[in-house]
Amino acid sequence: MESLPRLDFFELHDLDGTPRVLRTLHTESILTIYRLTDAAREYSRPLELALRSGADHRIVDLCSGSGGPVPLIQRRLHSAGVHTQVTLTDLVPNVHAFERVARNRPPCCPVDHVPSPVDATDCRLEGTRTIYGAFHHFAPPLATRILQNAVDTRQPIVVVDTKRSWLYVLVFPFFLMLAVLLAAPFQRNPLPRYLLRLALTYVVPVLPFMMFFDSVVSFLRMYGRAELRRMVDALRDTSTFTWTIGVQRGFTGAQYLIGIPRP
Ligand SMILES: C[S@@+](CC[C@H](N)C(=O)[O-])C[C@H]1O[C@@H](n2cnc3c(N)ncnc32)[C@H](O)[C@@H]1O
Repeated sequence: MESLPRLDFFELHDLDGTPRVLRTLHTESILTIYRLTDAAREYSRPLELALRSGADHRIVDLCSGSGGPVPLIQRRLHSAGVHTQVTLTDLVPNVHAFERVARNRPPCCPVDHVPSPVDATDCRLEGTRTIYGAFHHFAPPLATRILQNAVDTRQPIVVVDTKRSWLYVLVFPFFLMLAVLLAAPFQRNPLPRYLLRLALTYVVPVLPFMMFFDSVVSFLRMYGRAELRRMVDALRDTSTFTWTIGVQRGFTGAQYLIGIPRP
């Protein structure tokens, strides 16, 4: 797997100059893809493993984007008899999207959010931290700071991303771009944003291109298991945590890192 070297290149939706509305449309597309696929089933397993191993059932989701997969995962966990309380956070919180996710939740699956910026590298919130589909955005020094912050504040952490392999680099971006093209008319947005989405999908196809480009780059900069292990081994007081690194079987290639404070 790690014969494919990790390439730290930029993603378009991460650039400072990318208009906020474009970022929002992009992260909403990611959310739609989670909804259309069964990814939440595979993605729920590492979190379930962590919770069954003693991690706090209050979930602090970092880098939530437009909500990400955690609210979907929460419902799956509930069906499996694991109850959680979810708080969505982001450095640039999309409060409207968070409010939309929180609306109409069944009492079994409460979701709230932090409306102010929460930096994953310097978080003070208590609960099990989750980072879904975002850890690869951070270069090694920042990624290490996220893990070190969890250790320093003694909060469990669950990181889920995709494994780095040619298969994902060469195949998935086409599927993801196709999903953006097919799903645009069905995405629920206020009318002006809905029209903007259609224009940026079919007239000037910025959104499909952004999904293609960003997913190629994403899959090239995923961390491999050996890199995660080295990162964990280099943390201060790493032995005060139990670390588990693995890959979940299935089409998503979900790779995870679980850290739980030792009693
Ligand atoms: C790929 S996006 C969304 C990921 C989301 N979990 C999902 O699966 O849809 C990555 C998110 O990370 C956020 N982000 C970037 N740097 C961050 C930081 N230092 N702390 C918290 N969030 C950050 C961005 O604002 C963006 O919303």
